[in-house]
Amino acid sequence: MKLVWFALAYTALALQLQADDWTGHWVAQAPGRAGVSLWLKADGMRLTGYMSGRGGETSIAEGKIEGDRLSFVVITDYYGEERRANYTGILSSPELKITLPAMGGRGPREVTLTRVSTADPPPLPPTVPKITLPPAKDVPYDGLAKTPPMGWNSWNKFRDQVSDQLVRQVADAMVRNGMKDAGYLYVNIDDTWEAGRDGQGNIRTNERFPDIKALADYIHGKGLKMGIYSSPGPKTCAGYEGSYQHEEQDAKTYAAWGVDYLKYDWCSANQVYDYHSMPAVYAKMGLALENSGRPIVFSLCQYGVVKVQQWGANAGGNLWRTTGDIRDTWRSMSGIGFDQQAGLESAAGSGHWNDPDMLEIGNGGMTDTEYRTHMSLWSILAAPLLAGNDLRNVPPNILDILTNREVIAIDQDPLGKQGKRVARNGDLEVWARPLAGGSWAVGLFNRGDAPAKVTFHAADLGLSRITAIRDLWEHANQKAAAEYSAEVPSHGVAMFKVEGR
Ligand code: GLA
Repeated sequence: MKLVWFALAYTALALQLQADDWTGHWVAQAPGRAGVSLWLKADGMRLTGYMSGRGGETSIAEGKIEGDRLSFVVITDYYGEERRANYTGILSSPELKITLPAMGGRGPREVTLTRVSTADPPPLPPTVPKITLPPAKDVPYDGLAKTPPMGWNSWNKFRDQVSDQLVRQVADAMVRNGMKDAGYLYVNIDDTWEAGRDGQGNIRTNERFPDIKALADYIHGKGLKMGIYSSPGPKTCAGYEGSYQHEEQDAKTYAAWGVDYLKYDWCSANQVYDYHSMPAVYAKMGLALENSGRPIVFSLCQYGVVKVQQWGANAGGNLWRTTGDIRDTWRSMSGIGFDQQAGLESAAGSGHWNDPDMLEIGNGGMTDTEYRTHMSLWSILAAPLLAGNDLRNVPPNILDILTNREVIAIDQDPLGKQGKRVARNGDLEVWARPLAGGSWAVGLFNRGDAPAKVTFHAADLGLSRITAIRDLWEHANQKAAAEYSAEVPSHGVAMFKVEGR
């Protein structure tokens, strides 16, 4: 009996020791993960604590310890939607290996943490109350963006390497290579142009933009327009100066510089505003732009949360992002284009557009077939066409895709109605967009891994007869029939303008 007690006490002590092994501050070692850490408190098999990262501290929930393994859940409120992320870990002293859940299109990843303190987690800092704004009055329509804006934006290719010199070279190239003639007019500087503010609170540009007014003059001299970027928060997504508490002043500055387009990106606004105030926060800048004395297209960038399609236009928006950031991959582009736009079509119309993000055409991560799908789908979606590649030296195959006038005409169709999926058979999808004058744009898409025959029928368009079919990539008329089939390569498209009755 004595022996049994002894064995039990020994096991309990061993378990206790093991459990205590988890308590403390664990810090990630991997490059690029700096700043991510875990404060843990082990209590028998129970694990509590929190995770610290760039976005602040988040408590862990449902924490469990079993032998040398742990698991916990991080529950976050993503703009009103509960998001659960499951974490697991293995302790192999002195390291703790945590498996991060799949996130943002990336698969699960392992991160190694080491313990820098064995202290209990200090109490979490009190949460700072966020600002709630009263609902704003509707901002009247500014008369801009009657068709989806077209142009170029620096972010997808150049990130923080954008400069005055690059933007001038891009503007020159757009005139030279036919992009301007094809309708691409806006030359948009994305994040990282900002410095701090001067003594009067005026926003300043950094050393990569020595004279932004002169740059705007240069761009205007080419018959093009200039766009710029900011955030309603204190900082932009890349950590540069935002417009928080300087909205009217910044709108006036942009107008004085000759800015024609503003992309306004939520980013750190999350830290100061209650997200329910998002419509009012955007309306504040919408109104400031309208009072600035210059017509400025207003592009909302808040990743499509808080049902932006219901209030974006009332906040003065001419376009609003409907998703998170696009990447130059088939998976990202097709997921956004095919899957995340469904049901949003009724919100789009002349002057106010759904924005499934900028183009990746020519950035090298997809095939020409996939880029043709990108261009075709964005045009059927009546999406803004903002090239995101290096326009200074575009290979002819990419230029052909970006400047296909017949496809651009679909995007820019004056009826301004966004298209939608009208038929689906596994990986094969038929999308259609009604056009001015009663004709239709039809896209036959093959999302599968092998070539396939895709068919559309007059009935898919609500027609009883088809009288004309024109292939917009082959630039050729086809024989009209009540149904029409095309061989479509894997990840490819066949696109038509169709007339009928
Ligand atoms: C966010 C936006 C991107 C880009 C970057 C810049 O991620 O969604 O389009 O503007 O910020 O930091």
